Amino acid sequence: MKILVTGGLGFIGSHTVVELQNAGYEVVIIDDLSNASEDVLDGIEAITGKRPEFEKLDLRDRNAVSAFFKKYADVSGAIHFAASKAVGESVHKPLLYYENNLSSLVYLLKELTEKASANFIFSSSCTVYGQADELPITESAPVKPAESPYGNTKQIGEEIIRDTAKVYENFKAIALRYFNPIGAHESVEIGELPLGVPQNLVPFITQTAAGLRDELSVFGNDYPTEDGTCVRDYIHVVDLAKAHVKALTRLVESENKSNYEVFNLGTGTGSSVLEVINTFEEVSGVQLPYKIVDRREGDVVAAYADTEHANNELGWKSELTLADALDSAWKWEKKVRGIK
Ligand SMILES: NC(=O)c1ccc[n+]([C@@H]2O[C@H](COP(=O)([O-])OP(=O)(O)OC[C@H]3O[C@@H](n4cnc5c(N)ncnc54)[C@H](O)[C@@H]3O)[C@@H](O)[C@H]2O)c1
Repeated sequence: MKILVTGGLGFIGSHTVVELQNAGYEVVIIDDLSNASEDVLDGIEAITGKRPEFEKLDLRDRNAVSAFFKKYADVSGAIHFAASKAVGESVHKPLLYYENNLSSLVYLLKELTEKASANFIFSSSCTVYGQADELPITESAPVKPAESPYGNTKQIGEEIIRDTAKVYENFKAIALRYFNPIGAHESVEIGELPLGVPQNLVPFITQTAAGLRDELSVFGNDYPTEDGTCVRDYIHVVDLAKAHVKALTRLVESENKSNYEVFNLGTGTGSSVLEVINTFEEVSGVQLPYKIVDRREGDVVAAYADTEHANNELGWKSELTLADALDSAWKWEKKVRGIK
């Protein structure tokens, strides 16, 4: 069975391609290389022994998307990772985000709904919950007004898919709301490659430990949490990738309860920024220079997933620990920087 993975050379996409291939799926990747390198194909092949098919293509090009589906008529489903994802940038370039994250989605859905049957998995985010009223966060928690154009594209994206699944009986979809994906494949053949200054905690930590950044800023230590720093649910990217295989197989085997379903993907455990720093120092043996600075606008206090729905319905549970994830992220950073 051939699956299209858009953004399959990116961080989460590449790890998912590996797990799809391990599970016996054929994979064709679309990526425009706007935030990835073609070398990632070598990393995937080194792990699985199989080189996925690859088309360099910008999904905003509707004609190119149509031509792709004519060429690969045997594609029976898609996992859609391709998107712009920098929250801060989205505030300054809203139209880039609305165009890239929404027009691409619409073009893909137009093609898929023309097929006799199609399965679709969408990369959504826990940002849709904003600061949730209750923790842990269940899938029925209300979607809060988005804090950024990026977050809004995930909310609107989910609505587009939900409305589509309502009218096309041949189309089944699952939206996966990721909490905070971190880490790298244990082989250290693939990992996260942020361009420029990382916006997320863990790449910033590993780059600081590698000497690329002078110091790590901890945004606020006066939040109403145990140690005053923000709390997030950090999930190992390999666990996250495996959840995609479970979700896809659920649709392939028609085990879904409705044509559009939503699942949280997290570990169920919240970790504070200081806990992440301490755990990193333990696994790496590197002392991290950091300072406490003012709160950052738009940061929620705490977010972690209720995992019951994913555990019971997808039959999926995260297996790797925060220490595993930080250890793999550090090994990957060292490999990329040539540090022994
Ligand atoms: N990483 C996170 O913390 C996180 C959290 C929640 C949700 N997500 C979502 O998960 C998905 C994957 O995230 P990631 O961290 O792997 O990002 P990433 O940037 O590493 O991967 C996205 C890939 O899509 C490609 N791409 C972007 N626009 C494209 C276009 N128009 N045509 C073709 N290819 C295009 C990029 O080159 C990149 O390889 C995104 O939709 C993101 O919004 C990520």
